[in-house]
Amino acid sequence: MDIFDAVASRYSCRAFLPTPVPEAIVRDILARASRAPSAGNMQPWRIYAIAGARVEALKALLAPRMNELPKAEGGDYRIYPDPTEEPYRTRRFSVGEMLYQSIGVPRADKPARYRQYARNFQFFGAPVGLFFALDRSFGVAQWADIGGLLQTVMLLARGHRLHTCPQQAWVSWHRTMRTFLDLPDNLMIYSGLALGYADAAAPINSWRSPREPVDVFASFSGFER
Ligand SMILES: Cc1cc2nc3c(=O)[nH]c(=O)nc-3n(C[C@H](O)[C@H](O)[C@H](O)COP(=O)(O)O)c2cc1C
Repeated sequence: MDIFDAVASRYSCRAFLPTPVPEAIVRDILARASRAPSAGNMQPWRIYAIAGARVEALKALLAPRMNELPKAEGGDYRIYPDPTEEPYRTRRFSVGEMLYQSIGVPRADKPARYRQYARNFQFFGAPVGLFFALDRSFGVAQWADIGGLLQTVMLLARGHRLHTCPQQAWVSWHRTMRTFLDLPDNLMIYSGLALGYADAAAPINSWRSPREPVDVFASFSGFER
């Protein structure tokens, strides 16, 4: 798979097959992903990878607590600006609409929406979960760096024919995750990531989120035509 195919075929996969992913593959992805650049080569990331019994234990821990959704433990950091201005608000709204439409859940059916959202906390059935953590003292540059690492991991996963879903939803269980991962006080979770083989037949994997054309988000000057 070349880089163009890896980028084009990545999407947020929300239904996985139970097929296990060997530790060697996860290690390979992370070792290669560590080539991601970072300001001053600080490599400001710490990753916790779980599989098998650990994934099952985490699911079992949270399953009885799903009625605490959607607020859970309140979040360790704010994901969306409040208020979220246009055009970002509409973009966010419409991707949510597409997601719920793909599984036939009407907007008004809040319980069904929560049930789908709660699947985040089963890694959407993926056999592997990754947690990306960084030091609380870090600023925007290091947050950007860890985002670059996350994308590098997602693209390398494609190289192994794997799919991913980045999951900031885990931030809403930050206290539980601190205990579960034995996270030191100085670290906080930036995002989770579900990793596994896609269930290609699942309706929730059947749609793709839209993007603005290049001229909407980029300007060009000085180029020779
Ligand atoms: C850092 C990050 C965290 C995300 N967290 C979640 C999440 O918790 N649950 C989820 O279903 N999707 C999550 N997403 C997926 C986004 O909704 C998705 O990337 C966006 O709608 C674009 O769709 P695509 O990834 O399929 O191209 C996250 C994406 C990023 C980059």
